[in-house]
Amino acid sequence: MDSPHDDGFASEMAELPLETRYPPFALRQYAGFWLPERTLARGLPAARDRFAPRPDDVLLASFPKSGTTWLKALAFATARRAAHPPSAHDHPLRQRNPHDCVPFLGIGFALDKDVELEALPSPRVLATHLPFSLLPTGRSRVVYVCRDPKDVLVSCWLFTRKVSESVGVDAESFSLREAMELFCAGRCMYGPQWLHVAEYWEASRRAAGEVLFLRYEEMLRDPVGSLRTMAEFMGCAFSPEEEERGVARAIVELCSLDKLKKVEANRKGRTAAGIKADAYFRKGVAGDWSSHMTPEMGKMVDEAVEDGLQGSGFSFTDSTPANPEFCPDA
Ligand code: A3P
Repeated sequence: MDSPHDDGFASEMAELPLETRYPPFALRQYAGFWLPERTLARGLPAARDRFAPRPDDVLLASFPKSGTTWLKALAFATARRAAHPPSAHDHPLRQRNPHDCVPFLGIGFALDKDVELEALPSPRVLATHLPFSLLPTGRSRVVYVCRDPKDVLVSCWLFTRKVSESVGVDAESFSLREAMELFCAGRCMYGPQWLHVAEYWEASRRAAGEVLFLRYEEMLRDPVGSLRTMAEFMGCAFSPEEEERGVARAIVELCSLDKLKKVEANRKGRTAAGIKADAYFRKGVAGDWSSHMTPEMGKMVDEAVEDGLQGSGFSFTDSTPANPEFCPDA
């Protein structure tokens, strides 16, 4: 443990409900969410007690496997475009995995060090999987991305089987049905997924200028439009001159799945956190769940999610614009 405070939390943690069936990490139920023990013991104390927010920080938030890597690449390329034009041959995203360009806050990776976050130039782009209700106070703008839970579930199951070895856990025998049952019970990393989404949705309705709520499927449909909205929200809108030069399009192109997949650092080796870099890039489409789950399994997930969302005002099938009050031109 890093500090006496962390030690204190670790002993408290032993009293919390435990879930060990979803590899690779033991999960504890805290404040309504199932969090990895190391998030509770290290990440959360670091984020809440020692993180010094800056007014121009941008925090990218997501439930795992909802498009975090893509969001990191897009936000990083947008925020740093003056120093690193998207066309530059030595652009950081052509040399490094997006997870090594945008650090996580609050998940307890080795990288999650206060000193490294402190050293980042402003405006900082950081990311988190923490639920909205557990975010550090005093943070600045938050960009959240959500995704169809069935695709999240399948993407997460495949990722888990691929990367669990990096922490010494064999997840080969972990079946999709087991993953689905745990997902539907909310007993997966940072779950319940619908509660994670609903909290950010609610926050985006309450304070549109503070939380931008995006949908992965909408980003796939209109990546340039989504990027413009995001840049505006981040306080670095594309100027008419940049639009003329096609900068937004160039960033979308740089961050496309096909382009990122070809980067050597994303094909071979591992991220600084020790995870196989290629595991973050798979199909990147909407609806791939149906290649792995039966319609009956899909229905079970939909029903569990709809049930969990009752009364929240949010629906995954609702097509109303995500942030009706956020108006970039205002
Ligand atoms: P699939 O497993 O469905 O293909 P996260 O980044 O939150 O871990 O989510 C991973 C999912 O995002 C994976 O989905 C992955 O393929 C997809 N993804 C990664 N990079 C992407 C990109 N540049 N564009 C679109 N999707 C991307």
